Amino acid sequence: MSKKLYLITYGCQMNEYDSTKMADVLGKSHGYTRTQDPDEADLLLLNTCSVREKAQEKVFSELGRWKDWKAAVPGRVIGVGGCVASQEGQAIASRAPMVDIVFGPQTLHRLPALLDSTRASRKPAIDVSFPEIEKFDRLPAPRAEGVTAFVSIMEGCSKYCTFCVVPYTRGTEVSRPLDDVLTECAQLVDQGVREITLLGQNVNAYRGPMGQTGEVCDLALLINYLARFPGLQRIRYTTSHPAELGDALIDAFADEPKLASYLHLPVQSGSDRILGMMKRGYSRAEYLAKIRRIRAARPDISLSSDFIIGFPSERDEDFVQTMDLIAEAGFDGAFSFNYSPRPGTPADNLRDSVPLDVKQQRLKILQDRIRGLDTDFKQALVGSVQSVLVEKPARKGQGQMAGRTSTNRWINFEAPAHLIGQFVDVEVTEALPNSLRGRWRPATGTAAAA
Ligand code: SAM
Ligand code: F3S
Repeated sequence: MSKKLYLITYGCQMNEYDSTKMADVLGKSHGYTRTQDPDEADLLLLNTCSVREKAQEKVFSELGRWKDWKAAVPGRVIGVGGCVASQEGQAIASRAPMVDIVFGPQTLHRLPALLDSTRASRKPAIDVSFPEIEKFDRLPAPRAEGVTAFVSIMEGCSKYCTFCVVPYTRGTEVSRPLDDVLTECAQLVDQGVREITLLGQNVNAYRGPMGQTGEVCDLALLINYLARFPGLQRIRYTTSHPAELGDALIDAFADEPKLASYLHLPVQSGSDRILGMMKRGYSRAEYLAKIRRIRAARPDISLSSDFIIGFPSERDEDFVQTMDLIAEAGFDGAFSFNYSPRPGTPADNLRDSVPLDVKQQRLKILQDRIRGLDTDFKQALVGSVQSVLVEKPARKGQGQMAGRTSTNRWINFEAPAHLIGQFVDVEVTEALPNSLRGRWRPATGTAAAA
């Protein structure tokens, strides 16, 4: 009987990508296949996130729930990976003795050896080191799981924003060599992938070595190379840092039609005082100037951002500036969270001075505003015809397909399943709270065939 792996993933898209790689590595080495039913699994992996305190605490309460699962069948193994593992290391196994393996984002390729080691020794196997890019060299060839795929092009972050743990949990920025990225993308496209999202904590800081020449390739040039793959029809990237968004990347929105009309550009705050304390490396005016240039290059673009509410010493006037910036930038989506002090970060030495109820009030005002802007954006699409990659049957079934617009909005529409993997024209007929509804417009001559 084949061995079964049950995987729980928290956090960002990089973690989702890493989870697929964990499954691939264990599939190749030990014949593991993934299951959605924990009862038939003998290996449980938790891929964790430590960006906010709540996410971190969730891991320990989750582990408590798996104690009985482990005790029920001898030989069952529990592994914890990701950023909490990286930050806590040995402490995880001490605080949660049911844990057998602790591995970091950069050591997931060593999972097979860690598994063998804990089985042989019956002691926890721990490796949260940063062997840089070695991970990518040891991973099996990618397996497409649909018509879209993530490709991680860099690891870590060297920006050291004062509130953030990522540079400590994922290490400093390391870019994958250009040839490796192009090979992985080509393999995915050969398997039917039509849209690729390039991933990195600071994806636009990508500087991939090119062959032995000593030259480096930036994200704009990488997009340019990828756009030449005939089978690849849409390219996205996330997450970008505003200070790394240079002219060439902005020009790509004007010059490269395969680049999706969507950009997630975290600003965090609209107050220069707070941006300075966060060490973000740009001012409000510089950020807005970039937004204006992006809109000039791609007028229909969807822009979203990240906000931290209640950073130490944030006053009402700072928050007002954040709200003004939202209006001026015209975001139509955002991820926003209350500031959460993270151990080991410079901001953790500042007093977490904004009371929780004030944080909550500000967060609600911001989230209501963003929800309104998202509704306006979707409403404005009603009546337009969008190019949609048909990704999969819609959850509600009934002959409905689901895909995304270039502006990253899910849209459901009636269409035959054989269109999965194709770009089709869909007229937007209705804006719903979390998606759009549409009508497939078959190209002339295809309606009969459907
Ligand atoms: N590279 C991105 C950028 O340019 O900001 C951010 C990646 S970070 C892992 C994802 C988001 O988590 C940040 O944009 C920030 O809004 C949020 N975040 C990070 N640390 C946080 C903290 N201590 N409290 C609340 N939110 C936090
Ligand atoms: Fe974190 Fe700032 Fe990097 S938010 S991931 S240190 S850009």
